[in-house]
Amino acid sequence: MTDSRLAVIVLAAGAGTRMRSRTAKVLHPIAGIPMIGHVLQTARELGAAHVVTVLRHERDAVAAAVAEYAPEALVADQDEIPGTGRAAEAGLAALPGGFDGDVVVVSGDVPLLDAGTLGDLLAAHRAASAAVTLLSAIVDDPAGYGRVVRDGEGRLARIVEQKDATEAERAIPEINSGTYVFAAAALREQLPRLAPDNAQGERYLTDVVGLLGAAGSAIAAVPVAEPWRIEGVNDRVQLSRQAARLNAMIVHRHQVNGVTVVDPATTWIDQNVAIGEDAVIWPNTRLAGATTIDRGASIGPDTTLVDCEVGEDAVVKRADATLALIGPRASVGPFAYLRPGTELGADGKIGTYVETKNAKIGTGSKVPHLSYIGDTTIGEYTNIGAGAITANYDDVAKHPTTIGSHVHSGSHTVFVAPVTLGDGAKTGAGAVIRKDVPPGALAMSVAPQRNIEGWVERNRAGTESARVAAEATGEGSGPAEGHA
Ligand code: UD1
Ligand code: CA
Repeated sequence: MTDSRLAVIVLAAGAGTRMRSRTAKVLHPIAGIPMIGHVLQTARELGAAHVVTVLRHERDAVAAAVAEYAPEALVADQDEIPGTGRAAEAGLAALPGGFDGDVVVVSGDVPLLDAGTLGDLLAAHRAASAAVTLLSAIVDDPAGYGRVVRDGEGRLARIVEQKDATEAERAIPEINSGTYVFAAAALREQLPRLAPDNAQGERYLTDVVGLLGAAGSAIAAVPVAEPWRIEGVNDRVQLSRQAARLNAMIVHRHQVNGVTVVDPATTWIDQNVAIGEDAVIWPNTRLAGATTIDRGASIGPDTTLVDCEVGEDAVVKRADATLALIGPRASVGPFAYLRPGTELGADGKIGTYVETKNAKIGTGSKVPHLSYIGDTTIGEYTNIGAGAITANYDDVAKHPTTIGSHVHSGSHTVFVAPVTLGDGAKTGAGAVIRKDVPPGALAMSVAPQRNIEGWVERNRAGTESARVAAEATGEGSGPAEGHA
């Protein structure tokens, strides 16, 4: 349902000075997506035939994000002349020459503006055949925003920026959201008239409103029903506030869909995460990127999953995982670190203080305690004893370890890669496995144990060790208490 008479211009050329960041403001993410990504998603939902982004600051990095989130969008470059009016001019110039439909102008730093709100604004604009209809909001703290100045009859007159406003104007609680619908022809006519005669020396798009009003065109400001939706992000305080609001909406959506979120305030879920019914998310958990959680899984507390897939009824507790696959009914943690390329099979286990990387652990196989498993393939129903290490790196290159099915490694085994253990093999405790182990073999590398009797009494005479040893062996020299 593309609307051929509709274009959206996204203003995103500003420097974003108040963020104090190396990264362009509109690239700062909320819910795992850069702010401009959210805005472009909204533009797409609105069904506009043309979407133009106006860029300048950090141009190439922002253009890359535009290409990712809206490949169909055009990029218009703003020149060195500053101001939202100049930006709109650049955007308008990128539209097809004769375009005379409606132009929605939004800012790249207003990430929670939704297509429903924009659709209502567009409908009001078209119903009134207005030259411009702007979205306003009545707020408790209007500081920093442009104010909506109305005449004695309450009709929109113009917008005044905070820095240019009189004290009386600064007291106006109705602010300009920076979101507008313009009739393309009206906008095209007025933009060249903008002058930088203001406190910031910029060509303000907001001045088009007053110019159109003075020219006798129909202009209107429509207050938004949910003022928090139009809050712009100019600094990190506003960034966290809008991120929290979006997160609350995402958590709510999952709860409605049958997911138990024990503590919404400490649960952070990115926009594109999918979670099945009856999953339980415990406190202090972050589900990021393209993570998917199947039904019935239990995640957290204190868990971060980035781009992970978790199978049905799996349990992941106090874990940090990136690009890992966790099979159905598998168990991870507490205190596990799963690095990219970890694939844990159904009913498998990665237990306490275990780090894995590029490790395929088959169905029912377990690495329960204190281990590092990297560049490793493990078959089915194998048990890796406590304290196992795959020594995969020899200071030059990484090497693979291959372990078969139904293998049992003794505690504290070191697998010096490259090395292969056949199906059903075993290793003794403390073994250092440097050579391949055939199927069914027991590999031992620790020297046989030798006990030197009486060593302590001979070499550590007079110590507590010697005394209790003598007592235990019944060979005490002196009279032992209670045995007289
Ligand atoms: C702007 C409005 C203000 C409104 C507020 C709402 C103007 C003059 N003021 O102020 O009335 O209340 O938004 O959030 O429009 N940009 C460019 N090129 C530029 C300057 C800015 O593309 O030369 C872009 C920015 O990247 C940003 C948007 O325009 O996405 C708004 O710019 P910003 O500097 O944040 O304007 P505000 O001071 O917030
Ligand atoms: Ca802003």
